[in-house]
Amino acid sequence: MARTASKVIVVVAWSLALYAQASHVTAHTTKMRGSSTRFYDFKPNPVMSNTQVQTKRITKLCKTKNIVTINGMYPGPVIYAQEDDRIVVKVTNKTPYNITIHWHGVRQKLSCWYDGPSYITQCPIQAGQTFTYRFTLLMQKGTLLWHAHASWLRGTVYGAIVVYPKTGVPYPFKQPFQEHIIILGEYWLRDLTQLEHDVISSGGSPPPANAFTINGRPGPNYNCSINDVHTIDVVLGKTYLLRIINAALNMEHFLAIANHKLTIVEADGEYTKPLTVGQVMLGPGQTINALVTTNQPISRYSISVGPYMSARNVPFQNITSMAYFQYAGSMPNGTPMSTQLPAYNDDLSIKNIMHILKSLNAVHVPRQLDVNLFITIGLNVQKCTLRMPRQNCRGINNGVMAASMNNVSFVRPNISLLEAYYKKISGYYTEDFPSVPGKFYDFVDGAPNSIPNDTSSTTGTRTKVLEYGSNVEIVLQDTGTVTTENHPIHLHGYSFYVVGYGDGNYDPETAVLNLVDPPYLNTIGVPAGGWTVIRFVADNPGVWFMHCHLEVHLSWGLSMVLIVKDGQGDLQTLPHPPANLPRC
Ligand code: C2O
Repeated sequence: MARTASKVIVVVAWSLALYAQASHVTAHTTKMRGSSTRFYDFKPNPVMSNTQVQTKRITKLCKTKNIVTINGMYPGPVIYAQEDDRIVVKVTNKTPYNITIHWHGVRQKLSCWYDGPSYITQCPIQAGQTFTYRFTLLMQKGTLLWHAHASWLRGTVYGAIVVYPKTGVPYPFKQPFQEHIIILGEYWLRDLTQLEHDVISSGGSPPPANAFTINGRPGPNYNCSINDVHTIDVVLGKTYLLRIINAALNMEHFLAIANHKLTIVEADGEYTKPLTVGQVMLGPGQTINALVTTNQPISRYSISVGPYMSARNVPFQNITSMAYFQYAGSMPNGTPMSTQLPAYNDDLSIKNIMHILKSLNAVHVPRQLDVNLFITIGLNVQKCTLRMPRQNCRGINNGVMAASMNNVSFVRPNISLLEAYYKKISGYYTEDFPSVPGKFYDFVDGAPNSIPNDTSSTTGTRTKVLEYGSNVEIVLQDTGTVTTENHPIHLHGYSFYVVGYGDGNYDPETAVLNLVDPPYLNTIGVPAGGWTVIRFVADNPGVWFMHCHLEVHLSWGLSMVLIVKDGQGDLQTLPHPPANLPRC
């Protein structure tokens, strides 16, 4: 314990000295025994009418509105680092909203306090308050993301994390000529905290986003957007590395570049065997690094992004957002060569890509299992018991929309679960999250999906406690309750091996598992009407959120919490909480 404490003190001292000269975006680097510490200053600002230097209004789709940003940037600043670097980010909340920042895909080894999901590992940073995140990118490299993890503020508060290999360590592929970040988002004309509130209190589904964006820009297919387009300038005959991130709230997205192939070389910050494809699909929270070679005639090509919507009867916006992939020497205002994305419900095109991704090298998959969890995921409709059914029960069949894992809709506590666990404050959660569904039946085709069948879930703040070091397998099974759908399930604090996928109901007798070179991911698209099996070693103590990364499903309760106990000694024990932890 003493060792960890003294390390933190050193960092505090350095950070104070450096803040004096820190500009808001640039990282300041200090060398520390081979790896570096990088300091960032994040100031979430309500972008308001020219009242302060760091506030700005944003105009898109012919409408001007205020958005919450970090340092006035949309998308937010990029965190650049190298493997094993220590990151220190001071977040000063100048908005009227509660906020936290989550470092999505950072495994937070022994630093659960800095993970960021509000009411899970910390209370939100309230208006006017400050919290400093400190963590190490231990054995991590590649493309990750950071985003707000309170209300729906992630809609505008997000950015890339780019982690380079250590100095002198090459990529396991030819060094690209250049690299570019492509971060996908959704743009809403409504205020996002208000939107979340209205969706929840209506009991119904959210309205579609007003636009999809690529690096914050919708592109020419939307009203008033002809010039609001992101352009990637390239030259003929080179190979580029694209760092593709889906930071959208509620939509999964296909992405393709006209006439060009993409070679996937990394997913969720871990190398994969190269896989050359016509398009990729990313659910929110997923990242892919892909190589693209400029081997086509000099021209302007479209980078097209459009929805993958596997659920039935959900209204969504189906306009493709577009960026330009522009060769030097092409007509600056030429009509771009366009591309055809798969149909919005093309499940097969995903199986043919994501389900065949493999880790670059053979990996150590846990084989002897200590814990087997079987978790169903899906939507629910609760019976209307509210006083104003017309206003508050706008879900299917006049019910209230919900979502669940093992038919338990997670109820967010109003304190930090990690604090409650660490300080043994009882009464806020239970440790009885079911390891298997209440009953086994045909989850996909035999599920209740219409009235008069009961499609309701139970509710609770239920957690599952794991012993330190246990080898865990989780079967994630989609259900047809209300509708089957591809759910991007994200686990905090870990990456996991994705050892299998399949259609229909999981059957251990027939399931084919890859225990040799499965991909090592942090977010997994559980196929619509199918299943996925993941494995990991529970060797990071703390309180870890597992949830669907479609924001509305998270709001509806599609989540649960794993508590991983301490092991033996300092290296297996969660350190004490930081002194300045925000209060609820
Ligand atoms: Cu990227 Cu809990 O989320």
